[in-house]
Amino acid sequence: MVSTMPGFLCMFLILLTISHSYAQTSFLYNFCMNEKGNYTANSTYHNNLNTLLSNLSSDTDIDYGFYNFSHGQSSDRVNAIGLCRGDVKPDACRRCLNDSKVLLPKLCPNQKEAIGWYDSCMLRYSNRSLFNTMETSPSFYMWNLVNATDIDQFNQALRNLLDSLIGQATLGDSKRKFAAANVSGPAFQTIFGLMQCTPDLSQQDCTECLSGVIAEIPRCCDGKRGGRVVRPSCNFRYETYSFYDPTNIEIPPSPAPAAPAPAPAPKVSALPPSTTDTLSTEGKSKTYLTVIAIVVPIAFVILVILMCVYLRTRKSRKQIEVQAENEDEIRSAETLQLDLCTIMTATNNFSDANRLGEGGFGPVYKGKLSNGQEIAVKRLSENSLQGDIEFKSEVMLVAKLQHRNLVKLLGFCLERRERLLVYEFVPNKSLDFFIFDEVRRAELDWEKRHKIIRGIARGLLYLHEDSRLTIIHRDLKASNILLDAGMHPKISDFGMARLFEVDQTQDNTNRIVGTYGYMAPEYVFYGQFSVKSDVYSFGILVLEIVSGQKNSWVQRGENEGDLLTYIWQNWRNGTVSNIIDPTIADSSRNEIMRFIHIALLCVQEKVGDRPTMASIVLMLSSHSVSLPLPSQPAFSVPSRNFSVIQSEEYDPVASA
Ligand SMILES: *[C@@H]1O[C@H](CO)[C@@H](O)[C@H](O)[C@H]1NC(C)=O
Ligand SMILES: *[C@@H]1O[C@H](CO)[C@@H](O)[C@H](O)[C@H]1NC(C)=O
Ligand SMILES: *[C@@H]1O[C@H](CO)[C@@H](O)[C@H](O)[C@H]1NC(C)=O
Ligand SMILES: *[C@@H]1O[C@H](CO)[C@@H](O)[C@H](O)[C@H]1NC(C)=O
Ligand SMILES: *[C@@H]1O[C@H](CO)[C@@H](O)[C@H](O)[C@H]1NC(C)=O
Ligand SMILES: *[C@@H]1O[C@H](CO)[C@@H](O)[C@H](O)[C@H]1NC(C)=O
Ligand SMILES: *[C@@H]1O[C@H](CO)[C@@H](O)[C@H](O)[C@H]1NC(C)=O
Ligand SMILES: *[C@@H]1O[C@H](CO)[C@@H](O)[C@H](O)[C@H]1NC(C)=O
Repeated sequence: MVSTMPGFLCMFLILLTISHSYAQTSFLYNFCMNEKGNYTANSTYHNNLNTLLSNLSSDTDIDYGFYNFSHGQSSDRVNAIGLCRGDVKPDACRRCLNDSKVLLPKLCPNQKEAIGWYDSCMLRYSNRSLFNTMETSPSFYMWNLVNATDIDQFNQALRNLLDSLIGQATLGDSKRKFAAANVSGPAFQTIFGLMQCTPDLSQQDCTECLSGVIAEIPRCCDGKRGGRVVRPSCNFRYETYSFYDPTNIEIPPSPAPAAPAPAPAPKVSALPPSTTDTLSTEGKSKTYLTVIAIVVPIAFVILVILMCVYLRTRKSRKQIEVQAENEDEIRSAETLQLDLCTIMTATNNFSDANRLGEGGFGPVYKGKLSNGQEIAVKRLSENSLQGDIEFKSEVMLVAKLQHRNLVKLLGFCLERRERLLVYEFVPNKSLDFFIFDEVRRAELDWEKRHKIIRGIARGLLYLHEDSRLTIIHRDLKASNILLDAGMHPKISDFGMARLFEVDQTQDNTNRIVGTYGYMAPEYVFYGQFSVKSDVYSFGILVLEIVSGQKNSWVQRGENEGDLLTYIWQNWRNGTVSNIIDPTIADSSRNEIMRFIHIALLCVQEKVGDRPTMASIVLMLSSHSVSLPLPSQPAFSVPSRNFSVIQSEEYDPVASA
């Protein structure tokens, strides 16, 4: 996959050339939707399709770059949408669609529904109505083979660009929802980007669709100089060269960004007229390009990524002021401070045999102090750590957090380059070890799970409200719930964010800690966290405990989707008992249902709709507390087909 081409040439996705020679080339990508039905040759549907397509490139609407048309009656009605990239002029648009209408039925003979993308246009048709509906699949993405330099700065610039583009594109009218712009990146590079929705989408749908493609960026083109994510209803692309025609870009009068992200003011510049022809010729060099096509629901996608947060560069290290009070704490910290030799001895020199696993912040070792006490030692990775004084003061604060449902921090060690945290050893591994295992899950009956859920809730409540500090965990998940000998839950890894230069008082962050699938949408998208983002993670955790399923892709019979989608569907259909882990299904049904209900309240999209931990603790323990009805959770979408079409070396020139 690594190109041997000189890097500069690699930048140019050969696809550029395609816009100048459509008829001979294949699509960037196309999908024949087999499962949507076939028509027979010379049937009414076939004739309708031919009529519709033959009329297509003569349609005057193409002046707007958007074409929608229908032909035929009832079940033989054919609907088509054509969309040209916003900067493509009407002539070129017509040519592109003209080529598409020939090629697509050829590639997808007898398929009622098909979609194909060229660089400059997209064509799709179906017996379903396609207008005014946001569709996120099928989709594909591509990336530039060249790595970006100065990734942090690059990502910061890219993020500014994204914020600006999404604002502009979504504000477009019913004829055009398109934006293109450039920003200066590191090393004198300019980053060019564009975003487009089919203009029939509402502003809200367009925003949602574009958020979805942005969210794919880390997966598609993380650290790459260019990439694109393409869906039926919207797409996004960026490169470090100008890949669109800047002479044909309307700059909206006042691009007040609609994106709610509290982003720094984007430095987006107007595009002076210039020619891009040279790019096309260079683009003709043979370059291999990898394309992955996916048919994927938003829910799943979002679990996998988080562009916006990811793209924020780390801010310069925040100096924590050491005040008189803190100095006292640091002095008492000395009593918690262990020496390196002690720990080395205890863990048998960090031997592999003693290694318990890899946590988010470094490996964890089991150890035994000379007095016989068992400990778990977290050996923090060196990156991004604070200065010694800040580290000590934070450890001190975290050590003060003591609750039966929190793993106890016994001490720390700060010597040479080592930073170690020493915890009580909790014997029974973590919750994920049990609930996701076919056999071991039987060891956790409903009574135990019930106790575990309530314990976690109490631990979180303590962190949020009862401790002297408001601690937001930010990475609550099954593997961070340890179980003691009596199967009581103990939350681990709390306060870690504090030890990693994250300013907890701020409501948004540059550094993501957290795990896909457990993170609240506002955290994923905008880096905003609060006690309510922990509540979201708690909700997911409860659903996992009750269902025995990970919040990732699940398949049960004919149903597939992410766990949340699956549960929500069942909830809506009144069949939520289907989702209960069969090993506990015989237990108190009402109580389990109530817990699911509470969990659904926790994963509401609107932060304000999620209950606080205090009310959750109450809801969990008292059946007399009435529960509001949940609405559709964040990221829950109607089930869609999911298939990963194999990743392949893809060479559009060769296949032309
Ligand atoms: C489209 O065709 C498929 C398969 O023939 C059929 O199941 C479906 O109901 C049709 N949809 C519409 C809207 O007619
Ligand atoms: C349509 O035809 C293709 C092959 O031509 C086949 O794979 C597919 O299963 C058919 N779809 C339906 C719904 O019959
Ligand atoms: C469809 O019509 C064309 C021309 O009208 C004819 O050549 C072809 O044999 C027909 N195909 C079928 C399957 O009837
Ligand atoms: C083809 O397009 C013309 C005008 O663009 C329109 O009047 C005509 O009805 C269309 N024909 C069909 C079959 O859609
Ligand atoms: C095409 O889309 C426009 C809005 O974008 C809509 O007003 C019009 O009715 C659509 N045309 C057809 C044939 O559905
Ligand atoms: C459309 O493509 C056909 C060949 O596929 C060509 O003969 C025709 O001139 C093209 N029309 C336009 C408007 O480009
Ligand atoms: C890009 O970076 C990745 C990992 O950072 C590395 O594995 C790969 O070889 C690099 N590719 C090129 C073309 O430099
Ligand atoms: C946008 O790109 C053009 C072409 O590279 C460049 O000349 C211009 O400086 C950029 N926009 C601005 C005004 O920074």
